Amino acid sequence: MLIKKVVLISQQNNSLLVYLKDLKGGFRGPLKSFVLFVLLICNFSYVSNAQEKLVGHGGPVKGLTVSNSGYLVSTSFDYSSIIWSINDMREVISLNDHLAAVNVAEFSPNEKKLVTAGDDTRVLVYDIQNPIKKSLPRELGKHLGKVSDIKFSPKGNLMATSGWGGTIIIWDMINEKKILSSNAGHKGPINSLQFSNDGKFLFSSGYDGTIRKFDIFKNTSKGIIVSHGWGINIFHIIENKNSIIYGTTDGSINIHDFKANKNILKIVDERTPVLTMCVDINRSNIAFGNAKGRVIMISLDDFSLIRDFRAAHGPVWALAFNKETTMLFVGGLDDYINQWDLVTYPQPVIVPPGPARRFNPSQLLTNGQKQFARKCSVCHTLVPDGKRRAGPTLYKVFGREAGTLEGYKFSQALLDSKIIWDDKTIHQLFTEGPDVVLPGTKMPIQRMKSSKDKIDLIKFLKEATQ
Ligand code: HEC
Repeated sequence: MLIKKVVLISQQNNSLLVYLKDLKGGFRGPLKSFVLFVLLICNFSYVSNAQEKLVGHGGPVKGLTVSNSGYLVSTSFDYSSIIWSINDMREVISLNDHLAAVNVAEFSPNEKKLVTAGDDTRVLVYDIQNPIKKSLPRELGKHLGKVSDIKFSPKGNLMATSGWGGTIIIWDMINEKKILSSNAGHKGPINSLQFSNDGKFLFSSGYDGTIRKFDIFKNTSKGIIVSHGWGINIFHIIENKNSIIYGTTDGSINIHDFKANKNILKIVDERTPVLTMCVDINRSNIAFGNAKGRVIMISLDDFSLIRDFRAAHGPVWALAFNKETTMLFVGGLDDYINQWDLVTYPQPVIVPPGPARRFNPSQLLTNGQKQFARKCSVCHTLVPDGKRRAGPTLYKVFGREAGTLEGYKFSQALLDSKIIWDDKTIHQLFTEGPDVVLPGTKMPIQRMKSSKDKIDLIKFLKEATQ
């Protein structure tokens, strides 16, 4: 395993450097020093393929979850769940007890139980033996509609499930009995759940565009925490950072400070529903997947964008980091699970061909507009009060000295640079690449080969940023 990492790391030094810088605490001690060590002494080139596929399912993959003891569980449209061993990427067992697509699987905190649920509305619980063996599940009960999510309370004594029938069920997992059923104040389908750290409250999001808080022991709604105009597919709350992170059906990823009641970050890929997300074990990174196969990974330390790439051919329905945050598993329309090595692949930004992101697709775009839409707009706006993106607004960038825009947190590389942005320096930035022109910059590695594209982009930028 480690040998393979050496191979990959050497292939793309620069990308790794960016990654290590951004992924504070993402690696465990020994791996980190090992990686850095390799980086310093090796300089050979290899041809390799960092992306692997876990082939086993006979239909699209809907859910992924990772256990602390090194297993990955995938659930599929093929009505089955598969338990994989992450170390050797081997299928351990497949579970075929559902009667329809399996949407979600979850381990109990002590990992003695695995619960699965899906379109057949049934919630099944398996005892997990060590080593893992096939066992018959017990049926806990049924939902009114398809089941969308399963979460255990931190201690594991309670479990909550949600459904598109509009209810949440709370289960006593010691006695495996239903305790209560509620809509928790929602109108319509409920998509996603999370217990509070003390296990007393349950947060839930739904197609009614709200994230709500529910008092489990009093069986009452504590009201709305977030209200959004569109359905909220997924969310995650980090209580000690006062953050709610959520993804919506209209294509926005939002980070909201619920104490200050203000939005910290919003990334929009218009009209492309954000379908899934995962958070790493240290809660310092988060990844989102959308309906067009795009995966966006953000650092929760400084909200910088770490990765933005096309990870699947169709919608991404499931994401999971391995425990060390060195791999990302991606499930979607493909029958297999894509495994991306985060240390080297994918590059910080891989721009897929496709329709323009921030422009009306029916509009006729000039080549310059197209270049901007595809290559820059995910991180930069062109307006003075541009919503917060990974990069600073490019409004009035021509004639500006690098790193001088007030209110944006530049890297030291930009602060120290004396570059004045103009046709020539922007051209140079994307000919040589930000990593060469501004070593240490937060801007991802990106070079543009076509000199026509560069000239058109700069012409468009000059007009649009005045
Ligand atoms: C994935 C995000 C991302 C993408 C895509 C991206 N940038 Fe950036 N850009 C950044 C970040 C982050 C910074 C700030 C760098 C720093 O502080 O080190 C930046 C800085 C800049 C700056 C310097 C601004 C200043 O005031 O000093 C320019 C110019 C720039 N980008 C232009 C572009 C152009 C043109 C494109 C498209 C070809 C582009 N960027 C694509 C993230 C991005």
